[in-house]
Amino acid sequence: MSSHSSQRKSPPTYPGLFITFEGPEGSGKTTQCQHLAQWLQTNGQSVLITREPGGTPIAEAIRNLLLTKKTGPQKHETITPVCEAALVLAARSQHVTHTIVPALQKGMIVLCDRFFDSTLAYQGFGRGLNREALTRFNDFATGGIRPTLTFLLDLPVKEGLQRRKKASKQNRMDQESLAFHERVHRGFITLARQDAKRWRKLDAQQSPEQLAEEIIRHIQPMVPKSISPRKKRTSNTRLATKPKKSRA
Ligand SMILES: Nc1ncnc2c1ncn2[C@@H]1O[C@H](COP(=O)(O)OP(=O)(O)OP(=O)(O)O)[C@@H](O)[C@H]1O
Ligand SMILES: [Mg+2]
Repeated sequence: MSSHSSQRKSPPTYPGLFITFEGPEGSGKTTQCQHLAQWLQTNGQSVLITREPGGTPIAEAIRNLLLTKKTGPQKHETITPVCEAALVLAARSQHVTHTIVPALQKGMIVLCDRFFDSTLAYQGFGRGLNREALTRFNDFATGGIRPTLTFLLDLPVKEGLQRRKKASKQNRMDQESLAFHERVHRGFITLARQDAKRWRKLDAQQSPEQLAEEIIRHIQPMVPKSISPRKKRTSNTRLATKPKKSRA
């Protein structure tokens, strides 16, 4: 077990910078993670792009279990909300321990496509699980690590779902009702309001290019302060795990 054990009172700090992208389905998180990674890389930063659920082989296997449509073993047995939360948090424990913390210790900029806020939004606001319990369970699983900055890509739910229909194979979450997705969306908005210092809420109806520029405007002042740019290299971006089929 690494140093971030569940007994820690205040979360540890690392030389790297931890940035997360959150928002409803199809809001452009993956697109913007990639844009930002490219910009950071051309500015000499070492970047790790990763995603949740996922980011290690075991966590990616859990992702498949969570996102596979109701076929196979799930045909006759639904995943309970508590099982869903436990799987998400089990994957996060692997991810934080084996991928995120080692990169932050090396001083890298970690860009993570969804993190703990998605648990609060989906399993808390969406499924109705107790958010304090989820927070305690999350901190038990991860040592309480939090992102320095979180982008909320805000988009009307219907628009995001439409984008997803066009873009990728439907998954288990796409089968949820519109009401569920609306609760998740409202959850993200509430979370962003509760911690305005960490969150940056962006209008995800802008073009990808406009959004990328806005994100860079937020990041630019933080980068030199947090980490001194390294000598430019041809490739200093690492993917934690390669998405296999469609991107998510
Ligand atoms: N700003 C944008 N305007 C219009 N379309 C966009 C924009 N950003 C991304 N898209 C398109 O919408 C689709 C979903 O984008 P993307 O995969 O980046 O979203 P996501 O938030 O990662 O989705 P998911 O919730 O499925 O992981 C893709 O086809 C992408 O090209
Ligand atoms: Mg995505």
